[in-house]
Amino acid sequence: MTTTGNAFVHHDERSGTWTVSGHPEILAALSDPATFSSNVPRLVGGDAGDDDGNLVQMDPPGHRKLRTLVSHAFTPKVVAGLEPRIAALTTELLDDMDGDVELVSQLAHPLPVIVIAELLGVPASDRALFRKWADVLIAGDAEFTAKDEDGAQKQRFEKLARDVQPMVEYLIRHAHERRAEPRHDLLTALVQAEVDGERLTDGQLVNFATLLLFAGHITTTLLLGNTVLCLDEHPEQAARIRADRSLLPGAIEESLRLRSPFTVLARVTNTEVELGGQVIPADQMVLLRVRTANLDPRVFARPDEFDPARDPNPHLSFGRGIHFCLGAPLARLEGRIALNLLLDRFPVLRTDPADPPVPLPSPNMTGVASLPLRTAY
Ligand code: HEM
Repeated sequence: MTTTGNAFVHHDERSGTWTVSGHPEILAALSDPATFSSNVPRLVGGDAGDDDGNLVQMDPPGHRKLRTLVSHAFTPKVVAGLEPRIAALTTELLDDMDGDVELVSQLAHPLPVIVIAELLGVPASDRALFRKWADVLIAGDAEFTAKDEDGAQKQRFEKLARDVQPMVEYLIRHAHERRAEPRHDLLTALVQAEVDGERLTDGQLVNFATLLLFAGHITTTLLLGNTVLCLDEHPEQAARIRADRSLLPGAIEESLRLRSPFTVLARVTNTEVELGGQVIPADQMVLLRVRTANLDPRVFARPDEFDPARDPNPHLSFGRGIHFCLGAPLARLEGRIALNLLLDRFPVLRTDPADPPVPLPSPNMTGVASLPLRTAY
């Protein structure tokens, strides 16, 4: 591979993308959305514009308006109010387990998907469908390229759009139902919401609901599996955490740092910019490798060590700046409740070398598609 640049910022000639791997360099990029735009589709075929409703790909001022609107649904008070429901759901899922466990299908996937479905107001009983669509999205994930000379990337995006069409229709149907019959759910709030005196279009609504539905569960599913894997890899730390549950939130942060569910965030440059001693021209795709930045020795002492007591722990796994993960408090709460109850229920939880975890087939995400666990020695 031909590259120019340094260890923290370099250009890859093959894919035509820039890679940023240093922690301070990524922070600088995330703090400057005017230069580092989130409207990535404009470079890879298809301009999202700044009002298509997919919050994570929008720039100011459209981003701020939509984010303000939905932030009400995720205030610390609203999220804290979900605690009893999350605990009850976890207990139900644990009660259904019998003998050895497959963590992803029995807890790590159903819990976050039911929570986000209930928040949005789509039937949680449709969760087999959501899993199918999530699998389609994950299967469509591949390394980004800014060149795409053979058009393979464009074809992949087109195929993905076709494959997710049933999901688009499903969400539009539910949004129309909420227009006719409002309820106390997020979908109703979205159909009634006005940004600058205008209602969201069906397209904006679907894009936003899709983002919430999938950002709201795929990553939390990964977080739960990843944290159990961290504990399995560090039995002495796991014993400490079992004995002193005040260490669990720190263990979840370390799991996020070492096994960041999203490994890379993408941006495009609006103008030429200097970053980490390199000059990046305008209209370049820039890949911010957060998982690598989470190991930056300039910021983290003993970066490879799993240390639940690490404080501070400024990992970048929820991003930073204006796009900082809206669901971070919810993901942390789900992680804390689910893992606490899981540890209470099973005094032994170990991977089985004869039936190893199956990694997720995605270059841009870290996690497992299945995690068989032994519950007895
Ligand atoms: C944004 C990670 C859980 C909703 C983000 C971003 C990251 C992230 C890295 C920033 C993307 C960027 O800057 O380009 C995660 C991880 C999670 C998680 C690791 C779990 C462990 C959730 C949950 C929800 C959610 C539970 C919803 C209930 C969102 C939304 C955005 C976002 C709406 C876009 C925010 C914006 O653009 O202003 N997430 N997320 N996430 N996340 Fe999460």
